[in-house]
Amino acid sequence: MSELSVVVVAPDNEQRAVLHLLVDGTGVAKTEHAVASLIVAATDPILRKIQSIKPDIILVDIPRDAAPALQTIELLHQEVSGSAIFAVGLMSQPQVIVNAMRSGAREFIGSPPTPTDLLEAFVRLSAARRKVQKEGIRGKIFTVVIAKGGSGATTIAVNLALALQSAHGNVALVDMAPLGHTALHLNLKPLFSVEDAIRNLHRLDSSLLESFTTRHSTGLHLLAGSNIPLAIEPSTAEFARLFDMLVGQFRYVVVDGSSRSDASARLVGNLSQAVLLVSHADVASLWSANQIRQYLGQTGGNERLQLVLNRFRKIPGFTEADVEAAAGLKLLWKIPNQYFAASAAIDRGIPLVQHGNTEIARSFAGLASRLTENDATVKRAAWSLFKIS
Ligand SMILES: Nc1ncnc2c1ncn2[C@@H]1O[C@H](COP(=O)(O)OP(=O)(O)O)[C@@H](O)[C@H]1O
Ligand SMILES: [Mg+2]
Repeated sequence: MSELSVVVVAPDNEQRAVLHLLVDGTGVAKTEHAVASLIVAATDPILRKIQSIKPDIILVDIPRDAAPALQTIELLHQEVSGSAIFAVGLMSQPQVIVNAMRSGAREFIGSPPTPTDLLEAFVRLSAARRKVQKEGIRGKIFTVVIAKGGSGATTIAVNLALALQSAHGNVALVDMAPLGHTALHLNLKPLFSVEDAIRNLHRLDSSLLESFTTRHSTGLHLLAGSNIPLAIEPSTAEFARLFDMLVGQFRYVVVDGSSRSDASARLVGNLSQAVLLVSHADVASLWSANQIRQYLGQTGGNERLQLVLNRFRKIPGFTEADVEAAAGLKLLWKIPNQYFAASAAIDRGIPLVQHGNTEIARSFAGLASRLTENDATVKRAAWSLFKIS
């Protein structure tokens, strides 16, 4: 890795000196310049100076009174292109971390940083830059949507993602539901969401994308949903770019679409290897599934749409062929009805597949292996066949 050039911005003399030393001490980076004041206007001559240095990294110290430093980050982000901004601040102020990332910082390093913290952040940056240059993996997307509210999309998306994670690793779960519940199912408290990734698309690379995800104890990466209705709906083009990044980084991407049936859901469906339409086996649900199928299939990709029956129980006189005819879909999988286990799993934040070797856990594992049965041999070909650019 070639040496990274760094500009340190820290009004506090002692902190500036410490950061200068720590940067140089990593052995992979060098402080080119240290700035003793924050930047409050786009006309500030310090900005010109930093632009002329073109550093790889600008390290900005955020003191307890964070606002001026956050403004500095925002200005640097707007005015100095090509430099990554690393913020150094207190980990005890989550809102400052969020604001720093939103202002344009790509890393937030706890203060006071250890040499290892800095070194790791520098290495991540170099690795991300290398990764962008070389052709990476192309993962597969599985999208889960429901015909009728409460049919079990989130339960299935969460457990499918965990089953894939345990079988293959390198899995992301993306929550596109109108109101995201996946974090709740996984007992996670995400700082960032899909919205943050979309808002930062212009500078999104693998390490920034990863920092917007929340890691589950199994290693699964969750890109969480919003917990408030979005102010501005992202466009389909924005979702296309986001998913292009995701498949460049993860082997499998599971999407919880829940009740979402709009142009974005359809686009992501078209990018998917399979779209699982979750329904119960009653007439009203299957009729709804048929309506959603027609909408999602309108722009092609009908063959990707498959039916998953949740809370399955045999109904005398109602065959699988009847079910398929009513929904207009091929039946891919049936998940047993286990109301108490399913609701306890949500309440406790411990998904069903983590409850040991139960019938329903085996059912999710079976679904995961069914969806990936051909992957060992046709992994590359499969993507190029289905890729829509
Ligand atoms: N296989 C199942 N058996 C019994 N109950 C289930 C099953 N799957 C989901 N549920 C229950 O259905 C409800 C809705 O599930 P959820 O995954 O939130 O649905 P959706 O995302 O489609 O709205 C939850 O209370 C959950 O416990
Ligand atoms: Mg849901």
